[in-house]
Amino acid sequence: MGDPMTDSEQLQEAAKRHLWMHFTRMNSYQDHEIPVIVRGEGPWVYDSRGRRYLDGLSGLFVVQAGHGRRELAEAAAKQATQLAYFPLWSYAHPNAIELSERLASLAPGSINRVFFTTGGGEAVESAWKLARQYFRSVGEPGRFKVLSRDIAYHGTTMGALSITGLPSIKAPFEPLVPGSVRVANTNFYRAPEYGDNLDAFGRWAADDIERHIEMEGPESVAAVFLEPVQNAGGCFPPPPGYFQRVREICDRHGVLLVSDEVICAFGRLGAWFGADRYGYQPDMITCAKGLTSGYSPLGALLVDDRIMAPFLDGTATFNHGFTFGGHPVSTAVALANLDLFEKEDLVGGVAGRAGSFRAVLDGLRDVPIVGDVRGDGFFYGIELVKDRDTRESFSDDESERLLRGFLSGALFDAGLICRADDRGDPVVQLAPPLICEQEHFDLIGQILRSVLTEACSRL
Ligand SMILES: Cc1ncc(COP(=O)(O)O)c(C=O)c1O
Repeated sequence: MGDPMTDSEQLQEAAKRHLWMHFTRMNSYQDHEIPVIVRGEGPWVYDSRGRRYLDGLSGLFVVQAGHGRRELAEAAAKQATQLAYFPLWSYAHPNAIELSERLASLAPGSINRVFFTTGGGEAVESAWKLARQYFRSVGEPGRFKVLSRDIAYHGTTMGALSITGLPSIKAPFEPLVPGSVRVANTNFYRAPEYGDNLDAFGRWAADDIERHIEMEGPESVAAVFLEPVQNAGGCFPPPPGYFQRVREICDRHGVLLVSDEVICAFGRLGAWFGADRYGYQPDMITCAKGLTSGYSPLGALLVDDRIMAPFLDGTATFNHGFTFGGHPVSTAVALANLDLFEKEDLVGGVAGRAGSFRAVLDGLRDVPIVGDVRGDGFFYGIELVKDRDTRESFSDDESERLLRGFLSGALFDAGLICRADDRGDPVVQLAPPLICEQEHFDLIGQILRSVLTEACSRL
């Protein structure tokens, strides 16, 4: 490495020739630079040209503790020196043991068993497979189906993709795994028939789960997969009482409740788990991302004792695993990350500052295209509309021009990393590192105001 400009140009050339970016229209970089991020510090990241950005999305809802945390890097180096790798296939290692114990102590109720993966989608995939095998082992082999919500994202492996409720990312890969059914999400903004009666809307949305269980036949349904706050579509929080009602419905029909907390766990909502935040007891929790703050990949499926019980008998085995699941380095990083969470009270910090963050975003409601601001903790979506009064959304073409043609690039150029997303109605999503404070919220607010105002003038 020498002259930074030449290095940057070489990186561009090599990236354009060889790198296949995820969920990315590669063609859009024919005439544009690929953003190359080279360094991070706290809530900031820097690109290959030395420009600084506020990381308003924690990378991808991941970097809870912020960038450049020496403690986490050192934990990784120390573990790699001592034992870089050993599998959890019939062996254990101290970090996996300690982390499983620690996660069990943090998880609600009798969720005491931890099956490690390398990421979120694998945790979701594992949860579906486990639900199926569990029901076989308790004499209900007909239960194999899963319910999940419209527009929800649960991952890209074939099982997790089948559970995902986004038709456009499923279509190229069909036929998918049979037995996955969509139910209503909790998009209150798009339920005008309920006026301001959020409770009634919540009852309806929960009851939609029961309707589908009954339609499918309860004896065929294994599990319901729900995020505490649904990300795709732009942060749909649960109406009051929603999860309590869903829990009752699941119990009534013998269906397992899986809380997909790949984004929502580890402080994102100001609690260790979204299930704590909204006071419900899942049978399984899937998590990943913030578990290591992204310093090494790791996911986990947290399982209630009741679901584990049949696997403790005789020759029973969950014939499932991943070479890198529960990797020694990743689990060392997760332990150091949880230490850091405790030392700095990151979870309490979010609970304390969430109101200030929200107030900044709510302050944008006077921008004509801001239709709704919703979310919880450090996790918000701003829905963009053509007409605030009628809530008319943008057409596909308009949304394409607005999000891809202008907003994504303009927000980035203005120094803010966030996500302009139109998997549902067009939204801008924000999920900054949990260390962020008022000055960062204010900067997010200023950049959004200026870029969204400019977007209005271009319509
Ligand atoms: C709720 C949810 N589940 C599953 C996943 C998939 O996780 P991963 O990309 O680690 O496989 C994601 C990723 O964003 C997610 O948000």
